[in-house]
Amino acid sequence: MRVHVVDHPLIAHKLTYLRDKRTDSPTFRRLAEELVTLLAYEATREVRVEPFDIETPVAPTCGIKLATPKPLIVPILRAGLGMLEGMVRLLPTAEVGFLGMVRDEETLEVSAYANRLPDDLSGRQCFIVDPMLATGHTLVMAIDYLVGLGARDITAVCLLGAPEGIDHLQAHLADVEPPVTLVLGAIDEKLNDQGYIVPGLGDAGDRLYG
Ligand code: PRP
Repeated sequence: MRVHVVDHPLIAHKLTYLRDKRTDSPTFRRLAEELVTLLAYEATREVRVEPFDIETPVAPTCGIKLATPKPLIVPILRAGLGMLEGMVRLLPTAEVGFLGMVRDEETLEVSAYANRLPDDLSGRQCFIVDPMLATGHTLVMAIDYLVGLGARDITAVCLLGAPEGIDHLQAHLADVEPPVTLVLGAIDEKLNDQGYIVPGLGDAGDRLYG
């Protein structure tokens, strides 16, 4: 797995306000959207493009456009929905699939309750979006789903990650070829006993939609 932490003062600035417990829901939503746009800039560095002829007011020239098959964006419900708009803004031709997953607050086990993805993902570039990577169980399950449908080009975009979750991903995705790319706004210190990222930002789903 390739791990890329995007080191940028604007990301650190917006993450600070996202973390602050005084930040209200509307502001939290706006910040999450702005952050994903900044992270998507890095996450789409290898997005596939194809040549495209145009004419400027002065002369013909060759440009590029997003290639087909269209990229697929997969927000993990609920909290991943808060990152969808920002991602779609950068990849306007992308298709969107959905995975609904929830962690049991006691056991931290993950279960899937919704799955709306194309049947065949071979040849598709897939971008999973979910604000939090805590234990990593959710992301491993999501990536397993996509790989099971033939995806071989997967990038996960998270606002925050915990070292424990990244280790879990490294261990479970070691055999996935080509390697999955993980793009993060920051790696925090640790997980606490309740499975929350420390210092983190609390429960992203609740802060977005609770
Ligand atoms: C949160 C978060 C991730 C998951 C991360 O979702 O959005 O999907 O937990 O945890 P993990 O790395 O330990 O698996 P949650 O289960 O709270 O659901 P929600 O988005 O519906 O609030």
